[in-house]
Amino acid sequence: MKEQLAEIRTQALAAVEAAGDSAALDALRVKYLGKKGELTAVLKQMGRLSPEERPVIGQLANEVRASLEQAIQQQSEKLERAALEARLKLEAVDVTIPGKAPVLGHKHPMYEALDEIKDIFVGMGFTVLDGPEIELAEYNFDKLNAEEGHPSRDWSDTFYFDTDSRVMLRSQTSPMQVRAMETMDLPIRIIAPGRVYRKDEVDATHSPMFHQVEGMVIDKGVTMADLKGTLNLVMEKLYGKGTVTRFRPHHFPFTEPSCEMDIQCHKCHGKGCPTCKGEGWIEVLGAGMIHPHVLEMAGIDPDVYSGWAFGMGLERMAMGRFKISDLRLIFENDVRFLEQF
Ligand code: DAH
Repeated sequence: MKEQLAEIRTQALAAVEAAGDSAALDALRVKYLGKKGELTAVLKQMGRLSPEERPVIGQLANEVRASLEQAIQQQSEKLERAALEARLKLEAVDVTIPGKAPVLGHKHPMYEALDEIKDIFVGMGFTVLDGPEIELAEYNFDKLNAEEGHPSRDWSDTFYFDTDSRVMLRSQTSPMQVRAMETMDLPIRIIAPGRVYRKDEVDATHSPMFHQVEGMVIDKGVTMADLKGTLNLVMEKLYGKGTVTRFRPHHFPFTEPSCEMDIQCHKCHGKGCPTCKGEGWIEVLGAGMIHPHVLEMAGIDPDVYSGWAFGMGLERMAMGRFKISDLRLIFENDVRFLEQF
């Protein structure tokens, strides 16, 4: 039995020293010291020993147990230290390495222009509205006086969702005029920026998706002079003091009278250059006095209230504001382009 115990000790100590992790150590603890372990198995045979031998073997067994427990404990501490060292090495930070400056993004030039436009209008007491891009033809056309058969309702121009042309991607932000009239208390001063969609081929000045900013004022005694005064002021704030504008007669179904507003080319001051395509002027928006029938359809009495409205192309404003020559640059999001602003 003595030899058996000595054998267990030698084997077990060697195994403990070779154990590479705590799971292996646990397994060895069970194998040698556990209830069904090898040492316990030997001790169970003690009954067969003579009374003289018993205390000797008992003491030896206790020594083996103690030395095994100690060895396991030491190995476990050794493994823990090694693991900690490995982790510290892995997580070590070399504070002498020069830092990497994070690359900061910034606002897209078109949204930069939109923020300026919003600031100007909010400063004049306008509220900024958001509205649905999937719109009912009723709001995009009917309630804006563009009846069945109006050319802008054609399938070749508009993205419809259904065969009876009721649901569509809005082709203008003007339906927000109607939504505002139907839900807001008078007087109303709003702008409504957002995406609009038309079946256009992509070129330097066209895209099937672009942005507009709609604006509308309804109050008692509002006149065309208010329209001109306000929009002139907005253009001066956007393009600088002394910006020259002109208003040309035009037609829109939802305004009467209607006009388009041009600004004198900021590059050539009216002489004609590539920026203004030789015209001397750049068209910036459509506007007009809200048609009495449009007011009436929204439940507003045109004998008491009047209003003006406008719609401008946001890309065009941004192109003018930042001297961008091609519309496609605005949508491509090429970092080399964006970094210039
Ligand atoms: N919705 C027009 C368009 O897309 C622009 C426009 C013209 C808006 C006159 C208006 C307006 O509010 O009064 O061409």
